[in-house]
Amino acid sequence: MAQINDHYLKLKAGYLFPEIGRRVSAFCEANPDAQVIKLGIGDVTEPLAPAILEAMHQAVDEMSQHSSFRGYGPEQGYDFLREAIAEHDYQGLDVSADEIFVSDGSKCDSGNILDIFGPDNVVAVTDPVYPVYVDTNVMAGRTGEADDAGRYAGLVYIPVTAENDFTPALPDQDVDLIYLCYPNNPTGTVASRETLQSWVSYAQERNAVILYDAAYESFITESGVPHSIFEIEGAREVAIEFRSFSKKAGFTGVRCGFTVVPKDLQGKTSCGKNEAIHPLWNRRQSTKFNGASFIVQRGAAAVYSEAGQEQVKNTIDFYMENARLLRAGLEAIGIRVYGGVNAPYVWLKTPGNATSWDFFDDLLTKAHLVGTPGSGFGASGEGYFRLSAFNSRQNVEEAVKRFQGVVAS
Ligand code: MLT
Repeated sequence: MAQINDHYLKLKAGYLFPEIGRRVSAFCEANPDAQVIKLGIGDVTEPLAPAILEAMHQAVDEMSQHSSFRGYGPEQGYDFLREAIAEHDYQGLDVSADEIFVSDGSKCDSGNILDIFGPDNVVAVTDPVYPVYVDTNVMAGRTGEADDAGRYAGLVYIPVTAENDFTPALPDQDVDLIYLCYPNNPTGTVASRETLQSWVSYAQERNAVILYDAAYESFITESGVPHSIFEIEGAREVAIEFRSFSKKAGFTGVRCGFTVVPKDLQGKTSCGKNEAIHPLWNRRQSTKFNGASFIVQRGAAAVYSEAGQEQVKNTIDFYMENARLLRAGLEAIGIRVYGGVNAPYVWLKTPGNATSWDFFDDLLTKAHLVGTPGSGFGASGEGYFRLSAFNSRQNVEEAVKRFQGVVAS
């Protein structure tokens, strides 16, 4: 009989968002008249921008003619998109188009990247954390079992809570792979240039690699907040960056993202010899991935056109006004809120010290509101709750009213 990957059996329950979906579906089935407002998973609600749609329509037309039809594209992405990304997203930074690998999203990339790293690396994650980083390492066999609080043996957890101002302290032990996500999912907070510099310096000293998830960089509204790890001196030698069109341009269903692997980045072989990482990722993608679709990449490239940039920015501003309304509405009833200024997530302290899941159930049953329990992102998220700003204005305003009703009662 075929042997399974036992490591999957160590995973706690289901993946967080399907688990929330399951509870919400059960509630809706039992309460068919309830008008549930979902501020749980960060899924965009606004349609694609006209410039993107136009480019995608044109790409469909190109596919209808022998002369312009495209079959398999380059596994790394079309040059037109890689060049547009380098020119716009990394303007003034030392990132070249051939260091950019286009994909079908950064969730996949942040899990797939583990293919090119050895099994014995010690992995550090912040706590709370985007669950994909943890679960993919469990699947890859880099952890032991989870304890009662859900922490896996072998992983190094770095708490980021209100007590330390959501600033991850450098670990007091050697780690090899470090996941950082800024603007942060789930807390919505940001890392200062100094904090990122301290991590880059740490990685340089220890020959560690930082896996930097910048999926939410386009939501930064304050000046001085770094948009890319490559703004930090030395990062080219120690970091990989993931970015996504999902939240920036409404591509959660369309699927497109990219990963930057600098040519200066090296790891070592099991024999202790230095090897460049860029060719490994190139080899991995060429073997296991056939590239994002041409039509999708044309749509992504249109994000960088003059019209596209303006339209995408308007939508981001719209979501960030939702975030402001959520923050203001919760603060008005004395709830401590974090994030929501440079990220589309508002992270709040549960009222009355309720556990995250108790608060989730309370909010669902009494106000028909869905958020994400902080403890679903890690043990240090207990007692916190996340609200997503991706929704219609009407739903956000209604959610604030309902929230106020539940908490005030
Ligand atoms: C979230 O809600 O944390 C995100 O939508 C999940 C994701 O991007 O995969």
